[in-house]
Amino acid sequence: MPAPTTLLSLLEPHGEQHLLAYWDQLSEEERNGLQSQLMAIDWSEVTACKKLVEAHHEKKSIVKPQGFENIATPRCQKLGEQDTATSDALRRGHECLRTAQVGAILMAGGQGTRLGFNEPKGTFPIATISKATLFDVLLGQLRAIKKRFGSRIPLGIMTSASTDTATRKFLAEANFCGLDADQIFFFCQGNLPAVDATTGSLLLDACDHVAVAPDGHGGMLQALIEGGGLDWFRQQDCRTLVSFQVDNPLAKPLDPEFLGYHLLSGSSLSTQVIPKIDPEERVGVVTESDGVTRIIEYSDLPQPIAAERLPDGRLRFFAGSIGIHAFETHFLEDVASSQASLPLHIAHKKVPFINEHGRFIKPSAPNAFKFERFIFDLMPLADSVTVVEIDPAEGFAPLKNPSGASQDSPETVRQALNAYAIRHLEQAGIIVASGAHVEIDTASVFDDEDLRLIATSGVFPKNRIDGPHIIRAI
Ligand code: UTP
Repeated sequence: MPAPTTLLSLLEPHGEQHLLAYWDQLSEEERNGLQSQLMAIDWSEVTACKKLVEAHHEKKSIVKPQGFENIATPRCQKLGEQDTATSDALRRGHECLRTAQVGAILMAGGQGTRLGFNEPKGTFPIATISKATLFDVLLGQLRAIKKRFGSRIPLGIMTSASTDTATRKFLAEANFCGLDADQIFFFCQGNLPAVDATTGSLLLDACDHVAVAPDGHGGMLQALIEGGGLDWFRQQDCRTLVSFQVDNPLAKPLDPEFLGYHLLSGSSLSTQVIPKIDPEERVGVVTESDGVTRIIEYSDLPQPIAAERLPDGRLRFFAGSIGIHAFETHFLEDVASSQASLPLHIAHKKVPFINEHGRFIKPSAPNAFKFERFIFDLMPLADSVTVVEIDPAEGFAPLKNPSGASQDSPETVRQALNAYAIRHLEQAGIIVASGAHVEIDTASVFDDEDLRLIATSGVFPKNRIDGPHIIRAI
């Protein structure tokens, strides 16, 4: 049976008729599936993606190397400095948590290809002793807030076609990690097709399916609005939204001091950064030029500029982004209604595909380009941005790579969680024996005050922990 002319005339202007190469061999159901997918693709986006591939081949960069003279690192507010600014910020942050005028958005749509775990990353058992999952650890923070402040913080969870079904199933079976089912709003981000790096054409990853990938964490804004999420938050009186990433179990998007700095500054966007120490670290840096704040990706920062140092020895561009942001909802609404779309970014990746002989190929080297939007590209659109520097040991332990990798692996993340727990217990007056493993239960322990209460309660004789222990607040 020939392909419908509607499909042919849709594909021909883009030179993509090859996507129908197996039409004759498909069942009716498969044809319907492929037809719906092709009709749903935003072809103007495909054209934009292909232009980006051309620009990439011509090595055009968004930031020209000669343009760096006028770019600087913005002033950063440091977290935990214990000065008057800290206490003002803490007071304001606590008030915000008490009144639940803030909502949280967890970015859980990534494919986690580097980790090589077959399930959504959030279901990865990360905790040192209990093996609690990333979802347990992160959603637990909202339970601890309820215990301390009596408030229920609304949570949006962004999934993608790659993670949606499995995430919803996992969380329903896990009783939403102790949250109320109606405290969570699930919304699914969009996809963008991948493009063959050699031919510049779209790829099939099955005879009846075009290869697509999630459209990046920057897909959040469109998905949130189209899915009704922004209305859902607004109905619950959330004026501020924080966003954070599922692969960082130390993430503290609702840290009261961070929230306080954001709210007291009146900025429409705030962001957490960690000091970049080594110029080779593959993190984007927050920069400022002519009053506009933006993140420059590590790949856009020429090595000699990335290695430049300030008189105090810090890197000139030291403010490494960790993907934790606070937004005012009116700012998100303004951006959405202005129809401004975030720029597309290109990445050279391994994308499985069907070759010209109909065989499924799993490439061993990058063969295609994927396209993503980044949520931090909202920064230049904000009238003011507050940058808050945190100690990485306190808030950044990303899980990116498989077991055995030298960094960002399950082992390095567990080490960071254990070191964090030991440090905070010791600050509270509880000594942990050398080599012992301890785990802080994020669902009951909100902050150091809970640990000090444990220390004064006599739960641990002589305030000493000798063996593996999960610390729960009393
Ligand atoms: P990464 O860019 O590290 O991607 O995402 P990833 O999917 O986790 O891992 P790789 O690159 O395939 O190995 C950083 C955070 O942004 C979320 C991820 O879930 C993670 O929390 N993210 C990323 C999305 O929610 N959607 C996306 O399209 C991309």
